[in-house]
Amino acid sequence: MSRKIPRTSKDKRLPIATIEWENGKVKIIDQTKLPHKLVRIYCPDVKTLREAISSLKVRGAPALGIAGAFGVVLGIQNSSTTDFPTFARELEEVIDYLGSSRPTAVNLFWALRRMRDCAEKNKDREIPQVKRALEEEALQIMEEDRIRSRQMAKKGASLLKDGDRILTHCNAGALATADYGTALGVIYRAKEEGKKVTVYADETRPLLQGARLTTWELLQGGVEVTLICDNMAGDLMQRGKIDKVLVGADRVAANGDVANKIGTYTLAVLAKENEIPFYVVCPISSIDLQILSGNMIPIEERDSREVTHFARKRVAPNGVKVYNPAFDITPAHYITAIITERQIFRPPYKEILGELKK
Ligand code: MRU
Repeated sequence: MSRKIPRTSKDKRLPIATIEWENGKVKIIDQTKLPHKLVRIYCPDVKTLREAISSLKVRGAPALGIAGAFGVVLGIQNSSTTDFPTFARELEEVIDYLGSSRPTAVNLFWALRRMRDCAEKNKDREIPQVKRALEEEALQIMEEDRIRSRQMAKKGASLLKDGDRILTHCNAGALATADYGTALGVIYRAKEEGKKVTVYADETRPLLQGARLTTWELLQGGVEVTLICDNMAGDLMQRGKIDKVLVGADRVAANGDVANKIGTYTLAVLAKENEIPFYVVCPISSIDLQILSGNMIPIEERDSREVTHFARKRVAPNGVKVYNPAFDITPAHYITAIITERQIFRPPYKEILGELKK
């Protein structure tokens, strides 16, 4: 059955509760409404939850894993079957349905696999007990994410110096996880350790996760943040105003190539050119050992209106062709280190395979 991770009394939850399980429903912050309104919505069934994932009401790789796990609970809760083989077939349909929502973040598939394994381990029990075990597993996945956030933050903060000016992309913070975030967690932790760290946040076109979410959450957390357009990062680096780049990941291949929000690759190339350390912060659940290199990672392409429109207003001519990949691949040789809850991996990243298989 599920492994219990004790919560230490020192760990206080951030005030931003991105995803919660309340009275048999998933409660999320609707991130499409930020920063104008902090609205929480309920997903009472798997259809509503899948829509929330596709429309980025809930987003960020670790949060997608948690949402997927609770989605499974929602999807099988009304099953009236009493035999396990039928239940397992229904479960598989729910897993396929949720898995078809967003293809890149491996945490979603990792969590769905855990839910399947959990059902399998409990197959000799009555169906209501299997359902209960699945609910416990989803809660456990959420709690583990909270703990992992803190562990990554502690490891990553050891690399930051007092006065560091950090560039980040997209949102890899509390809004993308159950607690502290990945890249932003490192910044929160450094601040708690008394280091004065300031942040430049890329706006992150087309959906503006940097402008809308990262700046909002850093301001909530009392971190000094300056918003820039994506195309300003190179200029800042060239002027010597960035000491480190910290980003999250949606999937890391076994060779250390990283899929993250579109624009991450550009930053990594610019960082190398300007001799600035480029760090990826992610939980082990973002590493996909089945994928040998980045070019095998499925990249989500999204609706053309995300590019032709800005703040819901059309800015491009009708009928123009659009290319809108949500993620890009940063080859491993641009990455100074990959910070995980277990260890900080440094090149050659093939070690990831060796270490994680142990
Ligand atoms: O499309 P999104 O907003 O889900 O993309 C999120 C990112 O690219 C994040 O950087 C990544 O998921 C890491 S979140 C800790």
